[in-house]
Amino acid sequence: MDAIAELHGRFLDRIAQAPDAEALEAVRLAALGKKGEISAMMRSLGQMSPEERQSAGPALNGLKSEIDAALRARRAALEDAALDARLKTEWLDVTLPARHRPAGTIHPISQVMDELTAIFADMGFSVAEGPQIESDWYNFDALNIAPEHPSRQEMDTFYMHRDSGDNRPPHVLRTHTSPVQIRAMQAQGAPIRVIAPGRVYRMDMDQTHTPMFHQVEGLAIDRDITMAQLKWTLEEFCRAFFEVDQVELRFRASHFPFTEPSAEVDIRCSWEGGQLKIGEGNDWLEILGSGMVHPHVLRAGGIDPDQWQGFAFGLGIDRIAMLKYGIPDLRAFFESDLRWLRHYGFAALDQPSLAAGLSR
Ligand code: PHE
Repeated sequence: MDAIAELHGRFLDRIAQAPDAEALEAVRLAALGKKGEISAMMRSLGQMSPEERQSAGPALNGLKSEIDAALRARRAALEDAALDARLKTEWLDVTLPARHRPAGTIHPISQVMDELTAIFADMGFSVAEGPQIESDWYNFDALNIAPEHPSRQEMDTFYMHRDSGDNRPPHVLRTHTSPVQIRAMQAQGAPIRVIAPGRVYRMDMDQTHTPMFHQVEGLAIDRDITMAQLKWTLEEFCRAFFEVDQVELRFRASHFPFTEPSAEVDIRCSWEGGQLKIGEGNDWLEILGSGMVHPHVLRAGGIDPDQWQGFAFGLGIDRIAMLKYGIPDLRAFFESDLRWLRHYGFAALDQPSLAAGLSR
C-alpha cells in the first residue's frame, strides 16, 4: 500500500509540473504505458495471494483511474493555455483605418481607344495592327504617295538610321495609321471591315501637335460600299462617342493620295467661355480625313479594284479625347505628370460599354 501511495504522490506531482503536451505524454508512458510503473504493478497482481489481491486490486484500479483523470485535466489545461497565448499574439483590430494603397488611373488616350473600339465593334469592325517602325513601301508607296510628295520630306518624317553602305531605303516611324490598311487587306482580303488604332509620329511640336500622337484608321471594303455609308458610319460614331444626339458633320472636299474622292470632316461645335460643346454653335473643328479607297491602294493590298470598293478614314484620337473630356493642351498627355493623370485619368473599373457611349 505504501508503494501505491508513493506512486500516487509522485505521478500527480509530475503531471502537475509537466510544462507541455510532450512532457505530459512522457509521464503517461512512465505511469500507464506498456512498460509503465502502474502497468507493471497491475501485472504483479497475478503473483499475489487472494487476500493481498483483494485489497491491492481495487487500490491499484483507483490509482490508475485517478492518474488517468489527472492526465486528461492537465492536457486540457495545457491546450487552453496554448490557445490563450495564440490569441494574445494573433489578434487583429478590424476597426483600425485601412492601409493606404495608391491606385493608378487609366490614361485618357487608353480610355478613348477602348471607347471607340467598343463603338466600332458594334458596327462590325474588328481591330487590326501594324508596326510603328514601318517600311517606306507600306507607309508611302503602297498608299499611292509618290516619291516627291511633300509628306516624305525629312522635315515631317522620322527616318530610321541605316548602316553606311546599306543603300536600301530607310525605314520610317509611321506617319499615319494608313499602312495598316495595306497590311490588313493583304492578311484578310475582301470583304473587310477593320479599325487600326495606334501611335504615329511626325516632327511637329506646339500646343496642338506632339511628335508622337494617336490615330485610328478605319477601312471598309465590299462590293458596293459608297460615300453615303462612310458618312453614316462617321455620324453614328460621333453620336455614340460624344454622347449627343445632334451631331453635325461637314464634309469638305480635300485631297489625299490614297483616297479618291477625299473629304476632310469637321464637327459643329461652340466655344463659350472656354467651354467646348459638340453639336451646337457656329464653329467647326476638323477631326478626320477620309475618302473612297484609291484603286492603286486596293491593288497594293492585293484586292481587285474592279470587284471591290470601299471607304477609309483616319481620325485623331488625341484630338477627340481633348474634345470629349475638355483637355486644353495636347502636350500634357505625354508629360506623365501625376497630378494631371490623377485629374484626367479614369478609374480602372470605368469600363466603356455601348450603353455608356450612347446618348443618355
Ligand atoms: N492618313 C491621313 C492622315 O494622316 C488620314 C486619312 C486616312 C485620310 C484614311 C483618308 C483616308 O492625315
